[in-house]
Amino acid sequence: MHLDLDRQGPLNAQLVRALKQAILARRIAPGTRLPASRELARTLELSRNTVLAAYDQLAAEGFVEGRVGAGTFVAQLPAPLEQARAPAPHPSAPPRLAAYGRRAESQSPQTAPVTRRRTLRYNLAYGLPLVTPALQSAWRRALSRAADDTRFDYPPAHGLSALRQALAGYLARRRGLDVDAEDVLIVGGAQQALELCARVLLDPGDVALVEDPSYQGTHKILAALGARVRRVPVDEAGLRSERLPDAGARLVVVTPSHQFPAGSVLSLPRRLELLAWAERHRAWLVEDDYDGEFHHAGRPLAALKSLDRGGRVLYVGTFSKVLFPALRLGYLVVPPALREAFRAAKWLADRGSPAIEQQALARLIGSGRFERLLRRSNKILTERRAVLLAALARECGDALHVDGASSGMHFTAWLTRLPPARLPELIARAEALELGLYPIAPYYARAPRRAGLLIGYSGLGPRELREAARRLGTLLAAEATAA
Ligand SMILES: Cc1ncc(COP(=O)(O)O)c(C=O)c1O
Repeated sequence: MHLDLDRQGPLNAQLVRALKQAILARRIAPGTRLPASRELARTLELSRNTVLAAYDQLAAEGFVEGRVGAGTFVAQLPAPLEQARAPAPHPSAPPRLAAYGRRAESQSPQTAPVTRRRTLRYNLAYGLPLVTPALQSAWRRALSRAADDTRFDYPPAHGLSALRQALAGYLARRRGLDVDAEDVLIVGGAQQALELCARVLLDPGDVALVEDPSYQGTHKILAALGARVRRVPVDEAGLRSERLPDAGARLVVVTPSHQFPAGSVLSLPRRLELLAWAERHRAWLVEDDYDGEFHHAGRPLAALKSLDRGGRVLYVGTFSKVLFPALRLGYLVVPPALREAFRAAKWLADRGSPAIEQQALARLIGSGRFERLLRRSNKILTERRAVLLAALARECGDALHVDGASSGMHFTAWLTRLPPARLPELIARAEALELGLYPIAPYYARAPRRAGLLIGYSGLGPRELREAARRLGTLLAAEATAA
C-alpha cells in the first residue's frame, strides 16, 4: 500500500490523515483488510505503537472496523461519504451563497490603500483612539477588579443590569435623556446597534433613508439586508427635512449631534420637523450619536431622542470614541414597545456581550471616573483641534477651507484651488511624505464638485499635527506652482 505522509505534526496524525484520504478517495476500497500493524510499521519505518494509535483513531471515527482475530478492515461507507469520490468542485468556482451572503459580499469594504495609509507617521485618519496614560491606568484597574466580580455564567443577552443602570444615569446627565434602564441594550458597538435596528425593523425591499453624505457602515448594512437605500441631502443645518419623502420610507438613520462626515449640527426646527414626519408616517428614526460627547465650542445640544414624545427614536451610542474602538461595546436605547423584539434579536445574534468589560464599564461610569476621563479627553481634543486649525490656516491659507469642526474628532477640509481630479495624486504624493490623507468623496452618493478631505485629529499629538499641516501646505503650494 502506498501512502504519502505530509510531514506536518505528530507521526500518528500524519498516518491518520494519509489513510483517511486514501479511504475517502477509494484508493483503498470498503471491506479491504489493512496491513497488520507490524507490517505497515516496517514499510513506513514507523514504530508499531504509532500505527496502532492511528488504527485506533480511525476505528473511533468509524473509518475502519476491527474484527477480532481477523484484522482491521475499511468500513462500508455510508452515502454522504460515497459522495466524497465525486470530483471536488473547481477551486475557482464561486461558492453558492444565500441572497444575504451575496449582498454582504458586494458591500465588503475596500480597505487595502486605506489600511496602508493608516500606518503612516502623520496619519490624519478619522476614528483613531485618543489613548492617554490616565485612561489606560483607569481601564486596567477597572478591568482587573471586574475580573474578580464578574459571574462567569452567560450574561443577560441585552446587557448587565449594572451597566444599563449606570448608562441610564449617564444619558440623563449628559445627553438629556429620560430612559428606563430596561430599554437599554448593550451591544457590540454602534455597528451592531445599527445592524439590529435594520434587522428588526426592515424587510427586504423596504425603503430606508440615510443622509448624503453618510457613514459607509450604515448604508452597507441596509443594502446588505436588502433595503432600498435612498439619500436625503444635508446642509449646514443638518438633514434637509423638507426633502423627506411623502410616503414609503420605514426608517431614517441620522447623525443629529455632528453630521457624519460633513460635521453640521441638526437645527432645532429640523429636529422637530423630523420627529413630526416620523410620527405622521409611523417611520423609525435611528439616532447615531457616535461622538456627541465631544464638543469644542458652546454647549452640546441634547440628543434628538430627548424630544421624542411619540416613541419613534432609537438612540445609538458607542464607547469607540469616548474610550477606544478595540472595546467593541456600545448601547442602544429603544422605545418600550420594541424592547422584547430587540432583546430577542440580540440573544439570537450573540447571547450577550463580554461580561467582564461590561462590569468594568459599569464601575467606571458608576464611580464618576468615566465622566472625569471624558472631560479630560474633550480638553485634549479641543487643544489638538485648535493646534491643527491654526497650523492649517498658517500653512495652507485660503487654499483650504474647514467645515464642521464644532464637535467630535474630525472635520472636513475643502481644497479650494485643487481640481477634484487631481486629489488622488495629491494623496499619493502625501503618502510618500508619510502624511495620511483621506478623501471625503466616498461618503457622498455623487462625488462633490470640490476636492475635500475628511481629517481626523485624535490620533496625533500637537507636534505631529503641526508637522502634518506643514507637509500639506508644502504639497498645496507645489500644486499651485505646477498648475
Ligand atoms: C458615524 C458612525 N457611526 C457608527 C460607527 C461605528 O462605531 P462602532 O465602533 O461603535 O461600531 C462609526 C465608526 O467610526 C461612525 O463613524
